[in-house]
Amino acid sequence: MSSKRTPQLIMVRPWADGRAKSLQSEILCPPDKSVTHRSVMLAAMAKGDSEVVNPLMGADCRSTMSVFRALGVSIEGDESGNATGTVRVSSPGWDGWRSPVTPLDYGNSGTTARLLTGLFAATPGLFVTCFGDASLSTRPMGRVVTPLRTMGAKILGRDDGRLLPMAVQGQQLKSAKHTVDKATAQVKSALILAGLGCEGDTSVTLPSGSRDHTERMLAALGAKIKVEKHGHLETVQVTGPFRPAARRHLVPGDPSSAAFFAVLAVLASGTLVIKGVLDNDTRTGFIMLLEQMGAKFDRRRLLDRPGYLEPVMDLVVHGGSELKAIETDAAAAPTFIDEVPILAVAAMFASGTSRIRGLGELRVKESDRLAKVVELLSIAGAKVWTEGDDLLIDGPAESVQPFVFDPAEDHRLAMAASILAKFADGPCRVADPQCVAVSFPDFFEVLGSLG
Ligand code: S3P
Repeated sequence: MSSKRTPQLIMVRPWADGRAKSLQSEILCPPDKSVTHRSVMLAAMAKGDSEVVNPLMGADCRSTMSVFRALGVSIEGDESGNATGTVRVSSPGWDGWRSPVTPLDYGNSGTTARLLTGLFAATPGLFVTCFGDASLSTRPMGRVVTPLRTMGAKILGRDDGRLLPMAVQGQQLKSAKHTVDKATAQVKSALILAGLGCEGDTSVTLPSGSRDHTERMLAALGAKIKVEKHGHLETVQVTGPFRPAARRHLVPGDPSSAAFFAVLAVLASGTLVIKGVLDNDTRTGFIMLLEQMGAKFDRRRLLDRPGYLEPVMDLVVHGGSELKAIETDAAAAPTFIDEVPILAVAAMFASGTSRIRGLGELRVKESDRLAKVVELLSIAGAKVWTEGDDLLIDGPAESVQPFVFDPAEDHRLAMAASILAKFADGPCRVADPQCVAVSFPDFFEVLGSLG
């Protein structure tokens, strides 16, 4: 999360009654990180006054907001991290951004770095230099830089543009047809955003399944955008030039944050209602997997949500089911990629050997999540290993050994470890717990509220 580590440990006490703990509670789902990033970007591209209602004020989204402030966009509003705030964005518009005099700090945020590289490369006259924290500085940027260069982008960066820090000299780019070999929403979105600045059609063909918020939001704003599915591939085509108009963006709850408490409730007994969760198939693969394991959910679609671009639900999680192991297809991985750490915790309690396929991308997330998930489950006493890009977990664990875990400042690992700790045989310790602020600033308060 930050290159300056503040060494700190949080102790998480297990529930005295472990899996017999009966929940009868309701929690509010924190706002979606991906939708907040895109709402702020589209609002900054629009000339005039926009609003982002219920934004996630986590560290990643704050990075996106401070970048646009440095470009001359006014972004004001609730800075408390409170989930019910509104942020007001007043922008001179995409054509009016000024070049910042100091380097832009992308913090820990891959979405900020990748999407904004596409957008800034396609902004004639803009010049930016940018850097990230220690984790982001190791994450691959060549996946956006290489295709952008085929459109005429002028980008310099460490290791020939494969890594941050970078410098981007914005240009009038040429439209292009791209083929990408991974199902990645960040690359897809970076190329679509760049395409909005070009004359004519820019397309991206890639394996299906990655999140589709950029496409949905641009369609709602009136962009000419077309999505076609053919077999396991999808092609997104956008016709430029396009300038989004100012509007009110409403941010639904984040399924990736809901997943931690969904698994907590599945492993306990009783019922937990998680209110206001985004219900989009590209994000809710974890629910399908937990159902295949034997968990029980009700999705209560909320029909009275005017202004939301995507469906929203209250997710009712019923605990107490016997869980059985699952095997997943590699092609499904993008729909639950951020949830693998917490799904691995669930698999530890399922009988049989679970095999979650196609997780190579986890090696280049905020940490090497594949290695760190193996480490977490191993120190808790589970039999867990990898075969190529597959994660295998033998369950059910007879007990969870108390552990001390260093999540390598990766928010999703810190949260998965803290959920697992509720079922341990004694208190557990998690290092750098403040890293949860990247996506779920109130995580420990919500966990504490459940006893
Ligand atoms: C994101 C896309 C996903 C996800 C990340 C956020 C986004 O990455 O893992 O946390 O906001 O577009 P991919 O680029 O691998 O799809």
